[in-house]
Amino acid sequence: MTAKRWFPNRPFCDGGWQYMEQVRIGVIGTGRMGQNHCRVFSNMRHAKFVGVCDVNGDLGKEIARKYEVSYFRDVDSLIENVDAVSICTPTPQHYELVMRCLDRNVHVMVEKPFTETLEQARALKEAAESKRKLVVQVGHIEKFNPTFIELRKVLEGMTILAMNFNRLSPFQGSNVDVDVVLDLMIHDIGLVVDLFEAEPISMDAYGLSVFSDTIDHGLAVLRYDPGLLVSLTASRVTEQKVRGINVTSKEAYIEADLLNKNISVHRRTLGDYVNHKNSGVKYRQESLIERIVVPAMEPLFLELQDFVNCVIENKTPQVTAADGYNALRFVLLLRDKILETMKVQ
Ligand SMILES: NC(=O)c1ccc[n+]([C@@H]2O[C@H](COP(=O)([O-])OP(=O)(O)OC[C@H]3O[C@@H](n4cnc5c(N)ncnc54)[C@H](O)[C@@H]3O)[C@@H](O)[C@H]2O)c1
Repeated sequence: MTAKRWFPNRPFCDGGWQYMEQVRIGVIGTGRMGQNHCRVFSNMRHAKFVGVCDVNGDLGKEIARKYEVSYFRDVDSLIENVDAVSICTPTPQHYELVMRCLDRNVHVMVEKPFTETLEQARALKEAAESKRKLVVQVGHIEKFNPTFIELRKVLEGMTILAMNFNRLSPFQGSNVDVDVVLDLMIHDIGLVVDLFEAEPISMDAYGLSVFSDTIDHGLAVLRYDPGLLVSLTASRVTEQKVRGINVTSKEAYIEADLLNKNISVHRRTLGDYVNHKNSGVKYRQESLIERIVVPAMEPLFLELQDFVNCVIENKTPQVTAADGYNALRFVLLLRDKILETMKVQ
């Protein structure tokens, strides 16, 4: 018989530990994103998917039936029965729900953006810091995209000159609760914050309203010292869905496709004509293209697995409340700049 492994899991208020084998998980909000969280948790080792809560009772019950878990009418009864939750409600509800979970000593994974306002994000960051034994993770999923993970390895040791992030989507099917900067650009800002610790020395940003009365297309240019340019385009106006990062470095030009999970590294060759002595054929070699192997892993699975592992092993998550706060602060600055330039037009 194999020995049972017991994990330190949910802290008691007196600072002691409660031990259990699996993290009991609940999902709050069973819309588009919440249903993905349910699917992933229902198949995850060390996660015991216990139940869901949604203010839309019909939807919540349907999803609970599908995964054979309990439906809880109100958040407090769900919290009573779990060690950790995923919060997948619209952004305006994040602050109140995260605070309620922290008050009840429940670990939290909250979808991006962290909150609607910076004041809320700051208050949650401070609350998370005062509850050191609780895991608070923010859903900046692209950090777990295997293409980004491999891209980071490719970039190690290179001199980066410029980076260009493109995140384009059709309007139909887009989330219109918030503008495109808060909805889409924040993903790439999360990566920029992860890649470059320093603050940019200047930021310019522009935008357009096309189908809504808020920003539907945004463009930002960041300048870093010494001489690194980062540009970001986020749009919900394009008919094609694009998630790409292009990097110009001294050593190579790199194209990463986060959607189709591939990376090409274009390297310069000598560019000389190659002369075959016997046949007399002469040709000139184009740039060399390396295709990088990207593991076929689902980013959401990797993200939620990290959350569960951090709860079990009492570790700091890869995207903390402070990271969620920083990404939001950055994005709100860009949004203000865009709104300023739009007013001037
Ligand atoms: N990480 C990503 O790539 C990604 C992608 C899409 C959305 N999101 C984020 O996920 C969150 C949800 O987005 P969505 O597209 O799934 O929204 P959605 O509208 O499809 O679903 C939200 C659900 O939450 C429920 N709800 C609202 N208030 C509630 C409350 N107080 N308690 C319980 N349930 C409540 C609604 O009834 C609805 O079913 C947003 O913050 C969004 O920014 C992240």
